Amino acid sequence: MTDPLEEQQITVSGSALRAMRDEFQRFLMEYRFGLAEVETKISILREEFQEMHAYNPIEHVSSRVKSPDSLVDKVRRKGVEPDFASIRASITDIAGIRITCSFVADAYRLFDLLTQQDDISVRDVKDYIATPKANGYKSLHVIVEVPVFLSTGRVHVPVEVQFRTIAMDFWASLEHKIYYKYDRLVPDELLAQLKDAADTAAELDARMERLHREIRGTGIDVVAL
Ligand code: GTP
Ligand code: MG
Repeated sequence: MTDPLEEQQITVSGSALRAMRDEFQRFLMEYRFGLAEVETKISILREEFQEMHAYNPIEHVSSRVKSPDSLVDKVRRKGVEPDFASIRASITDIAGIRITCSFVADAYRLFDLLTQQDDISVRDVKDYIATPKANGYKSLHVIVEVPVFLSTGRVHVPVEVQFRTIAMDFWASLEHKIYYKYDRLVPDELLAQLKDAADTAAELDARMERLHREIRGTGIDVVAL
């Protein structure tokens, strides 16, 4: 089988190379703008919650545009044709944002508030909170499409949004480190311990949420904590 991305000896002129670089930068730029639109929506919700309900459902937000290296890796791994139209159609996590919430209910509430906005369209949802992965991974994933207005017109940019709790985030970052430390071949004993830790994290989430509800009541308009 021929790998379309396999290193080949090709000769490219300086101007052709510059044109390719410019095209790549323009391609990634759209994702930066898409990310900025979603980030703004999230900070508006966060500030509004703080002002109207004296409550902040978000602990932490992080975002990134995939690096060119990791994009090229993924294109190769998934066997996507290496042209911009194919990459745009098949790789939906070039722009990614992760929202770490205090409680599970907040993750779902923010998901609803974002996805119900009428300029947002939902392309795919994976609810790994309701149905965790076999290894114990939990998070609520959605691929949304957000309009971005460029001088050349409107484009719809896919952005992957992950909602999770602090406990889920703690687990996922440790699992990620272990996975790479063992180069994806984690010993069974460690996998079992990770699964066990995921269950403990889920128990902690449930306990903290119960406690929070007891102190605060179920509504969001009650006393600020
Ligand atoms: P990718 O090819 O990795 O993007 O997977 P996918 O297209 O099947 O999407 P999925 O929604 O399952 O996962 C997307 C992202 O969620 C990943 O890039 C990670 O950031 C995160 N994720 C998914 N599964 C795991 C997991 O088992 N462990 C950790 N730590 N993160 C995960
Ligand atoms: Mg991904």
